[in-house]
Amino acid sequence: MTYENILTEIHGRVALIRLNRPKALNALSPELLGELMDAAAAFDADDEIGALVITGNDRAFAAGADIKQMATATTAEMLNLTFINLWDRVRTLHKPVIAAVSGYCLGGGNELAMACDLIVASESAVFGQPEINLGVIPGAGGTQRLARAIGKALTMEMVLNDRRLTAAEALHDGLVNHVYPLETYLEETIKLAAAIADRAPVAVRLGKESVNMAFETGLTAGLEHERRLFYLLFGTDDQKEGMAAFVNKRPARWKGR
Ligand code: CAA
Repeated sequence: MTYENILTEIHGRVALIRLNRPKALNALSPELLGELMDAAAAFDADDEIGALVITGNDRAFAAGADIKQMATATTAEMLNLTFINLWDRVRTLHKPVIAAVSGYCLGGGNELAMACDLIVASESAVFGQPEINLGVIPGAGGTQRLARAIGKALTMEMVLNDRRLTAAEALHDGLVNHVYPLETYLEETIKLAAAIADRAPVAVRLGKESVNMAFETGLTAGLEHERRLFYLLFGTDDQKEGMAAFVNKRPARWKGR
C-alpha cells in the first residue's frame, strides 16, 4: 500500500506510522487521517504486529486539524464531513497505540495523541488546544479527553485561554507517560511498544478494553465488565501458560490464544 501523507515502518512486532506533511506541520487533513486510519486498521488486523506507534517529526507531532481546509466551511458542510469521527477510531483499535510526540501537539494533534493509549514525549513537546484563537472549540475530543486526563481546572484554562503545557508540565499533570530527550524519545517509545507487544496478546487487548471502559461507565458496571473479561481470560491457553510458568519458575511463552 502506498500513502501520500504518512510513512510506515516495521520494527519487529511494532508498526510505526509517521505523519508526513512536514510543510504544514502535519496538519490533519481528511486525506492524512484517512490514510492513518487505513494503515492502523491493517496493522491491527496483522498477527505479526503487537503494538502501534504514531509519530510526527521533531518539530511537530501535528499542529491540529487543517485550518485552511475548514476556513470557509458552513455548519451543514461540517455536519456532512465524517472525518471528525476518524479521531475516535484509534480508541476502537484492539492493539495498544502509543503516540510519540515532539514539538507542536496542538488542537486535533493533541486530540489524536489523547485518543492513543499512551503518550511518550520529547522534552520539546508543547501541548495545547488553541481553537479558541480561531473562534471555535476543540471538536475531536479535546474538552472530553483532556478533562478526564488532567482535570477540570487546567482543561478550562487550556480550552478557554490557550494555556499550553510543556512536556515537563504534561508529565506532572498526568497527560503523558514519559519524557525523554529529543534524540531518544522515538527509540524509547518503540522500546516501550515492543515490550507491550511481547506480552500475552489477548490479555493486552482486554486490558486496553477494560481501562477504556472506565471512561464510559459508572463504577459498578465497570467492575462487572472487568470481572467478566478477567474470567474470560481463563478460557485462553495463555492464562494456563502464564500461571504454569509462574508455578514452575520459568519464562512464559505466549501463543496469543
Ligand atoms: N492547518 C493548516 N496549516 C497549518 C496548520 C493547521 N492547523 N498549522 C500550521 N500550518 C501551516 C502554516 O499555515 C504554514 O504554512 P505556509 O508556510 O503555507 O504558510 C506552515 O504550516 C508552517 O506554520 P507557521 O508558519 O505558522 O509556523 P510557526 O512556527 O510560525 O508557528 C504554530 C507554528 C504556532 C504551530 C502555528 O502554525 C499555529 O498556530 N498553527 C495553528 C494551530 C491551531 O490553531 N490548531 C488548531 C486547529 S483547529 C482543530 O484542530 C479543530 C479540532 O479540534 C479538530
